Amino acid sequence: MESNKLVQETLKHFTDFYSESPSFISIAPGRINIIGEHTDYNDGLAMPAAIDRYIFVAIAKNRSQLITAHSTALEDTYSFNLGADIADKLWHKYVLGVVNELNIKYNINSGLDILIHSNLDIGGGVSSSAALELALINGILHLFKIETSSSEKIDLCQRVEHNYVHIKSGTLDQSASLLSREGCLLVLDFQDNKYRYIDSNSQNTAWVLVDSMIKRKLANSKYHERVLECRQAIRQLKSRYKDICNFNNVDNNQLGYLMNINETGYKRAKHIINENIRVHKMEDAIMNQDIVEMGNILIDSHLSLRDLYEVSCDEIDYLIDVSSDFKDWHGGRIMGGGFGGNTINLIKKNMENDYSDFIKKKYLDKFQIMPKIRTVNFSSGAKIIDNIKAF
Ligand code: GLA
Repeated sequence: MESNKLVQETLKHFTDFYSESPSFISIAPGRINIIGEHTDYNDGLAMPAAIDRYIFVAIAKNRSQLITAHSTALEDTYSFNLGADIADKLWHKYVLGVVNELNIKYNINSGLDILIHSNLDIGGGVSSSAALELALINGILHLFKIETSSSEKIDLCQRVEHNYVHIKSGTLDQSASLLSREGCLLVLDFQDNKYRYIDSNSQNTAWVLVDSMIKRKLANSKYHERVLECRQAIRQLKSRYKDICNFNNVDNNQLGYLMNINETGYKRAKHIINENIRVHKMEDAIMNQDIVEMGNILIDSHLSLRDLYEVSCDEIDYLIDVSSDFKDWHGGRIMGGGFGGNTINLIKKNMENDYSDFIKKKYLDKFQIMPKIRTVNFSSGAKIIDNIKAF
């Protein structure tokens, strides 16, 4: 298995770098999201799953107050004293944020040697940052023999995103990376923080990611703009209809009111309301193995993300449009925060390679960019590998 090889490599890198052996490895997967986009920070629903690509973290205490982290993928080493509060590079902010938040809560009070290895594309739209946060959190908690709940870990990740990385994101990515089960999809309800599992039923289908290789510089600020637009729309609804605190249960009259006073807010709200309905519809379609319906739901979601939520871009729209010329493509949509990144596509089983060849050629012809394409398998969430002698 590829992940066994990665565990061995992580051990070796750690030993080479720190001249000692770790006693366990903490791993956390990336994620895809089948349906339910931008719903997490709107108390809505989503259906993500972890994928079989991971961040691997080896970690040990040292006798100082110095935290050292080395990333093999980025070939970069970051060191700081426990208690420091500012970092420059993005991945440094994650390490600093996790260590600080854990130190505040659990007073870990020790230097650490950390080695980060991975077979997950960094910044590739499958939540490598959430995977890094969770691999670090689980690893440090395990090292200090601290037990805590999943919801506390997810909250901690969110504090890191909000306070160190300054992205006001929801908890979709962390929930998927932590809670997923092999072969299953997660159904998350962000209103009451409940979740359950459904069988992915993917005997006849394959889920294929196409990375457009587009990374918009403004993606974070645009994401933030959407968060604020939703908050403002809720505030406006609330000032007219006292009981409203999110878009759940907003009726057509209330939507009509919003349309008259804030057209942008109306469009965002309409996307969220319909996207939540699509999560339910997708669950039914998956249960019934109704591939045509699944595909249609994905396409509806894409159109809504393009026209109502306005988070798509030309390259991604092209990837979706041109895919409809491929016979065994059932549907697809932009996935994740938007403004570039990946599409997720539902393909007839065993046609993945043909689809990949087809898309590569079309995309290359049109934009002179080679997309990155991979079929994903649904894996289990973050875990500690204790018996590393077996590797
Ligand atoms: C990014 C964020 C998530 C979520 C998605 C959109 O991945 O990190 O919290 O909001 O965008 O669904």
